[in-house]
Amino acid sequence: MARVLSCIQPTGDVHLGNYLGALRNWVSGQRENDVFHGIVDLHALTVTETPGVLGDQTLSLAAMLFAVGLDPDVATIFVQSHLPQHSQLAWIMECTVSFGELSRMTQFKDKAAKRESDFVSAGLFTYPALQAADILLYDAQEVPVGDDQRQHIEITRDIAIRFNHRFGDTFVLPKAVTPKAGARVMDLQNPTAKMSKSADGEAGIIYVLDEPAAIERKFKRAVTDSGSEVVYDRAGKPGVANLLEILAAATASTPEATAKNYTQYGALKTAAGAAVVEMLAPIRRRYDELINDRGELTRLVRRGDERAEVVAAATLARAHAAIGVLPR
Ligand code: TYM
Repeated sequence: MARVLSCIQPTGDVHLGNYLGALRNWVSGQRENDVFHGIVDLHALTVTETPGVLGDQTLSLAAMLFAVGLDPDVATIFVQSHLPQHSQLAWIMECTVSFGELSRMTQFKDKAAKRESDFVSAGLFTYPALQAADILLYDAQEVPVGDDQRQHIEITRDIAIRFNHRFGDTFVLPKAVTPKAGARVMDLQNPTAKMSKSADGEAGIIYVLDEPAAIERKFKRAVTDSGSEVVYDRAGKPGVANLLEILAAATASTPEATAKNYTQYGALKTAAGAAVVEMLAPIRRRYDELINDRGELTRLVRRGDERAEVVAAATLARAHAAIGVLPR
């Protein structure tokens, strides 16, 4: 049984990339492993500016996590800000990572460039230190994520190695686990960019709660490539490759095998849309039921918080003892 941890930010609605890249795999591993999943609202502060919305987004994301199939009896779902240990260990992580290492993070470089004329918080820069705290607090061996998070898991590993070297063996070294199909779902309108909550337009993003008609329409309008042959070629035909990967992920197949079933782009788009509608329909139904019971959601999250805090507090105490801070 492996200890597994992964987290998601309560910023914007959950999309197909989040589902195929991460959430679906959180569900599939929950019975074999000891799993912890956090709703990381402190991470969302790097981009949240409107007062009064974060709490609702957090609760709505909790409903989504249960709707995709996480079972509160086996999976521990917690809210990051409810556990002070995350912020406490994050400072220690900041003191264990270098300015140079943080400067090389591609997510920071991309996000900072996008917000060029805007406000770039120091939190956006130190973000990986908080993420390292999230992971190391739970002694996580495996971190199921999409491809875009690999670098963050690698830096966490580097931080853990450095801390263990300085202060003695304290943290478990984590590794990223990504799915075979769906690790990098691309925007349907711009298939060389990943599907992302911070994309310019919505036409290329499939939200898990989208109506079936909207999903079908977005797939029909997906940007494809020149030529007309359906082959799986990520570099040469990124639009078709993305559709093949999505369809393969939704039907438990491979993009190469899926390509053999289609001769036209139109039929491929229709099939991908239909498969995604079918995959997401039950999630939407369960979400609609759960979101109306705030009391029950709050109770489930509190239960997760309590279970998570036992583990997080023990690890933080271990880190403090390793450093040798004066006990209170
Ligand atoms: P976030 O909230 O952006 O995304 C949550 C998960 O969804 C995956 N993902 C994708 N997978 C495939 N294709 C895509 N287009 C796509 N877009 C998003 C992400 O890889 C992620 O697994 N920094 C993290 C949150 C975090 C975290 C952690 C993750 C904070 N602490 C500790 C793991 C462990 C983030 O912003 O994910």
